[in-house]
Amino acid sequence: MKILLTGGAGYIGSHTAIELINAGYDVIIGDNFSNSKRDVIGRLEEIIKKEIQVYEIDFTNYEEVDKLFSKEEIDAVIHLAGLKAVGESCSIPLEYYRNNIESTINVLNAMKKYKVNNFVFSSSATVYGVPKAVPLKEDMPTSCTNPYGWTKYMNEQILMDVSNANPNLSIVILRYFNPIGAHESGLIGEDPNGIPNNLMPYITQVATGKLPVLSIFGNDYPTKDGTGVRDYIHVVDLAKGHVRAIEYSFKNRGIDIFNLGTGKGYSVLDIVNAFEEANNVKVPYVIADRRAGDIAECYADSSKAEKVLGWHAENDLRKMCKDAWNWQQHCIKLN
Ligand code: WQD
Repeated sequence: MKILLTGGAGYIGSHTAIELINAGYDVIIGDNFSNSKRDVIGRLEEIIKKEIQVYEIDFTNYEEVDKLFSKEEIDAVIHLAGLKAVGESCSIPLEYYRNNIESTINVLNAMKKYKVNNFVFSSSATVYGVPKAVPLKEDMPTSCTNPYGWTKYMNEQILMDVSNANPNLSIVILRYFNPIGAHESGLIGEDPNGIPNNLMPYITQVATGKLPVLSIFGNDYPTKDGTGVRDYIHVVDLAKGHVRAIEYSFKNRGIDIFNLGTGKGYSVLDIVNAFEEANNVKVPYVIADRRAGDIAECYADSSKAEKVLGWHAENDLRKMCKDAWNWQQHCIKLN
């Protein structure tokens, strides 16, 4: 079985490629390398000890997408390609809507033309907006607080309508919570361009001294210690969730949605303390103002993925922190 991984050179895509190959699938990576480095491919091949087929492609260009589908016998698509920075989406909303929606429509049109019926979509817990209650279940209300989140929400709506129009399709929507950590080899991991937006890469860069201090965005939230609470999940566990989703899609028709989280909420201070303890390093921090658009608390009820996909997160917070640190130390040698 040949799986097209759009955005497959990215943080989640590269880890998903490894787990798919480990599970016996053939993988084709399509990526425009706008938010990933080409040398990821060589490091992936070092891990799996074989070559990976890669296409440099802009999924907003239908001719390029059609050419790829005409050349390759694709059995399923895992669609990860897209812009993903919440803050950036507020300053360039039109680029986010164009890129994230057009790429999905192009892939779906090519799938229709070449009779590819299996599709897994990378969605996000951000579609829940400001949660009315936690833990979050898939049937809870969705609404977004930023253009990035709306692109995920709109893509989910497009997929529901496409599924209604074509009962032969099998579509699985995965709502990610907060992926952190890295492959145990330390050869791949989260490698944001510039100053990291997300907590863990910021912490690892403070721990190496690349950045001077962590700013904790607010300690006056209605949470156990006042800092924001999130559901952090090891990126390898998230990647394995995609393998289960593909297996499920080949056995079912229609559309379904699954949360991929651990079901545990950790505060920013929990993460800082866990990281310091796991790696015996200090992470100096200051309390700063809240970040616009942040919510107090968000964590998953992933019991549906456990029951239906037979999937659950296996790695604990200590492992996430150790693997994140291991990657950061390798990263320094790679750059
Ligand atoms: C986590 C916590 C911050 C940085 C975002 C997207 C989501 C998904 C994951 C794509 C919050 C605090 C952070 C810092 C801090 N991305 N923080 N100082 O905002 O939960 O989710 O990334 O799918 O869609 O919304 O993740 O890592 O940015 O923040 O105090 O320098 O850490 O306030 O409480 P977030 P994050």
